Amino acid sequence: MENGLVIQNSMMVLPHGIVEGDLRVTDGLIKTIAPQGGLQPRVGELVIDGTGLHLLPGAIDPHVHFRDPGHPEKEDLESGSRAAAAGGITSFLDMPNTLPNATNRTALEAKIASASKKAVTHHGFFIGATTNNVPDLQSVEGMDGVCGIKIFMGSSTGDLLVHEQKHLENIFANTGGIIATHAEDENRLQSRIPEFEHRTDIAAHAEYRDIECALLATKRASALAKDHDHRLHIVHLTSGAEADWLASNKGELITTEVCTQHLTFDQDDVEELGVRALMNPPIRYSEDKEKLWERLKDGTIDCIVTDHAPHTLQSKSIGFPKAPAGMPGVETSLPLMLTHAMDGKCTVSDVVRWMCAGPAKVYGIKNKGSLIEGFDADLTLVDLETSRTIQDSDTWTRVGWTPYAGRSLTGWPMYTIVDGKVVHSRVRNGELRGDIVATPGSAGRPLIFE
Ligand code: DOR
Ligand code: ZN
Repeated sequence: MENGLVIQNSMMVLPHGIVEGDLRVTDGLIKTIAPQGGLQPRVGELVIDGTGLHLLPGAIDPHVHFRDPGHPEKEDLESGSRAAAAGGITSFLDMPNTLPNATNRTALEAKIASASKKAVTHHGFFIGATTNNVPDLQSVEGMDGVCGIKIFMGSSTGDLLVHEQKHLENIFANTGGIIATHAEDENRLQSRIPEFEHRTDIAAHAEYRDIECALLATKRASALAKDHDHRLHIVHLTSGAEADWLASNKGELITTEVCTQHLTFDQDDVEELGVRALMNPPIRYSEDKEKLWERLKDGTIDCIVTDHAPHTLQSKSIGFPKAPAGMPGVETSLPLMLTHAMDGKCTVSDVVRWMCAGPAKVYGIKNKGSLIEGFDADLTLVDLETSRTIQDSDTWTRVGWTPYAGRSLTGWPMYTIVDGKVVHSRVRNGELRGDIVATPGSAGRPLIFE
């Protein structure tokens, strides 16, 4: 363990408000939080001057696709984790549609072992459900580093798919923990192919994978959760209709999330960005975007995620409808949301609630997501006073592009700290891309889920 560190004079975003002061880290934990001038550095401690910066808990992105194993040209656990660190994300949860799919204990153990060599942040992994792998799902229950079961109810990238009622019932009846569902109705998707297969305009994507398609699956997954008394997390909510329905139907068993891009983009951005903005479920309409904001603010939506799903620009260049769906986002989500905060859409404390405390609560991640004495020292110091325009060449993701290219964003992390160790810094060279300070595998642990 390092000799500890003291961060002085920052604006600390604490659970009950923003306080200017000092924070001491000892043995990887937040030891003391004190008002300004309250902490004098001790011999051997690293001192970080937080003047003009906001200190946030490290953000948790509970929905990324890091492509490891299988597609290192798109991402792997090293490039994905360091992109996360650059964006102030200190923990990520990775999806199972890799190559091979992560559908059994051996694959999960391999991912965890690989992350221990490559990651610079904390990590957890979903196991993917298939039509016949309930014993595999059961075999990883309670395992450190395994966050839950992912079910693709509608087909998306990869071949994971479980949509028949008997298979879904079997999974909900015979597993524990959290089931996270990609809720799009496969039957509706299949039945509408003839109507849409001739369309090559990108607006067809949201018309084809429509709101009804998402709402049907969201209602179906919710009914399964209630019938089997099973925890359910519905990933990437996209429509006002689902958000409104969940507001009065989610109860105690069900939680949900929204992607940064569904809070930021609408039909006009899809028109402008083309295949860069192609994803499943689609970017929808301005009224959906506004309703998602409303339901985030009223607490219906529990947290914000990225669905970081990198595809190379070359693979995208085939154009719609053949281009693969998904966009990178793990390194821009926190600055993007902090930019929304500075634009008056929400507060900085809201962002912390939705991107730090929220995911920790949904997945039962202990001692993370808040600046509280005794919690893990996963921290990010962000600069809310400077705006910088991001370009593709600034990114750490291996695919080397961002749907936010050309946008001016504030809230860039100057330091990202994992267990009290600085893993990324933008201070030394002053460039937007900054430096990864930690070597692969030198920081981060498999997350423990309660
Ligand atoms: O757009 C998407 N891309 N949606 C998904 O469900 C999967 C993801 C990917 O892995 O590319
Ligand atoms: Zn996803």
